[in-house]
Amino acid sequence: MTRIDVTTSANIALIKYWGKADAQANIPAVGSLSLTLAGLLTKTTVTVPGTGQYLLDGAPMNQAEAARIQNLARAFNLNPNSFNFSSHNYFPTAAGLASSASGGAAAALALAVASGGGIDTKILLSETLKASGSAPRSLLGGFARLDPNANGVSLRSLPMPPFWDLRVLIICTASGRKQHLSREAMEHSKTSPYYPAWLATHKDDLDKAETAILKGDFAQLMAIMEHSTMKMHALPLSSQPPVLYWNGVTLEVVRRIMALRDENGWPGGFTMDAGPHVKLFTFATHVEHWRAELKQIAGVNDILESACGAGPSISRDGQPLAWQL
Ligand code: PMV
Repeated sequence: MTRIDVTTSANIALIKYWGKADAQANIPAVGSLSLTLAGLLTKTTVTVPGTGQYLLDGAPMNQAEAARIQNLARAFNLNPNSFNFSSHNYFPTAAGLASSASGGAAAALALAVASGGGIDTKILLSETLKASGSAPRSLLGGFARLDPNANGVSLRSLPMPPFWDLRVLIICTASGRKQHLSREAMEHSKTSPYYPAWLATHKDDLDKAETAILKGDFAQLMAIMEHSTMKMHALPLSSQPPVLYWNGVTLEVVRRIMALRDENGWPGGFTMDAGPHVKLFTFATHVEHWRAELKQIAGVNDILESACGAGPSISRDGQPLAWQL
């Protein structure tokens, strides 16, 4: 018997994608730039041979989940009944962060290794992308940039400025699941009159964010992240009918972050995904300053902390497997 273990981490986009160029292949309409997050993990184990048993967090997968793994297996020329698959997500429940990114990346990598031979990067990328538009970014640690191109997508790593000890505070402003699935909401955003402007201006934001990272200009990176975040949310807000991801606490947190930054000069910037929680990027030196203030806002349920996370780790029969995208 062979046992393959893969661990991957979630990621959060500083410059988010929104919209699909190709719904079938799940190709995003625009690129994205993310940070892989420490401590928000998926651990996936594939054993070969097996009997086609698929488990998620210890329970049998539902039909749709199992079908995704079966399709993934076929893409890597594996018989779906020839192995056992088990995946666990180690996510703080309050975080409201999807496990689809780390889960998709872990499943694709584990099955790619299980299929034997080398890992075909092109297939790995396109199959990970099918799990979710944000999943390929979890194939890298640190900053990752994903760009659509004529053949699908390209993915590359951006260097972390050596003096940046980044922290991400996840400021939880609600409990429970998000209301709108991002795939459907992205399609619906095409009803916004701003959608063409989003497509036309997005690459410039990505390039500016990349330049800010390469120069180690944190304030500039935060400025472009906030600008792009607000442009992204303007799409669902201006769709017909409108889609609103924020609640009152979301706005209160954003206002407070802006005010505290103005008053104290603390390093920091906010972003929100397709949900009501606010994520604050800052440095380790200022985490406690921010936390002490933000936890006082009525309606803030919890504040979780993460940092720059590593890329996937893979082992076969307990022996680490070196792998790089
Ligand atoms: O493709 P999904 O379902 O992971 O949607 C991602 C949506 C955003 O988080 C808002 C954007 C992003 O680039 O992560």
